[in-house]
Amino acid sequence: MSTYEDYNQKSHLYDTQRYAVGTDVMAAMMQFYCGKKLQDLHILDAGCGTGNYAKALVGMGARQITLLDASSGMLEMVKCKLSDYIARGVVKQVIEAKMPPVPFPDGTFDVVMFNLVLNHLDRGDPAFPNGVNTLKESIRILRPDGLIVVSTILSSTFSSVTWFSQLNMELTNRFNATILPSVEQFEKMFEDAGIKCIQKLNILGSDLYKSYYNLNGSLDESWRKPSAYWSFATTEEVATAVQKVEMLKANGEYEKWVKEHDHTNSSGVLTIFICKRSLANI
Ligand SMILES: C[S@@+](CC[C@H](N)C(=O)[O-])C[C@H]1O[C@@H](n2cnc3c(N)ncnc32)[C@H](O)[C@@H]1O
Repeated sequence: MSTYEDYNQKSHLYDTQRYAVGTDVMAAMMQFYCGKKLQDLHILDAGCGTGNYAKALVGMGARQITLLDASSGMLEMVKCKLSDYIARGVVKQVIEAKMPPVPFPDGTFDVVMFNLVLNHLDRGDPAFPNGVNTLKESIRILRPDGLIVVSTILSSTFSSVTWFSQLNMELTNRFNATILPSVEQFEKMFEDAGIKCIQKLNILGSDLYKSYYNLNGSLDESWRKPSAYWSFATTEEVATAVQKVEMLKANGEYEKWVKEHDHTNSSGVLTIFICKRSLANI
């Protein structure tokens, strides 16, 4: 089974669907737990994608940031978007590499962040060997007081709070089992890697997704195309979801159905884990 979803195909569409939600909270946590100002922290954005989080952090004052991703297409977007900061040396390096390993010398960074990445490393393997090895690598490349920031969508969150995931629960259950770990699975990954989670946060709202309330989205291929969820669906599963939307619309029940199945404002979509190396690793 493939352990890596190829983002080259959707790199030019990715930013039409995502915001760097939670960056302000991450920046505050980094400064608080590292005891340094943002501009003094060397941050690795591991699995940076198109650089949304890096760009937001630089906008808040970060002055030393390194980016890594396995997809050359995503990195092309980074190089365009952050060209000024690359020229000024604020972005120190942009590296194409598939994790694990994480190819930097020991003790390089104050913070290693993985935004919506760890869940992509082990498709369908409940022991998460690549996730665990990547987290172990993050300890190696961190300075002694360094921080690890992991953001993710949990399987329980996805299926119970986002309205579109409830159009076809069979698809959602398969997607969850293959690609979205539960909170218990993340905790086991941290334990196996020798990492201690010191803070868990949920960001309320649906702001991770652009056009989340575009109710015709699920009927629109350009809305579905950048999404890992929809790329997971068979043609028949997409057709079933579209059929359900059309039926609800025809009955004048669609808006009400979406409202009843959307719980992003009370539960949120994005979960952030703030972690340090465990005592045994100091
Ligand atoms: C959902 S995107 C998240 C991108 C970015 N962190 C963000 O939040 O906008 C997942 C990213 O992880 C990258 N990725 C997946 N597996 C990887 C691996 N083994 N090593 C490095 N990057 C990987 C993909 O290429 C993609 O850019």
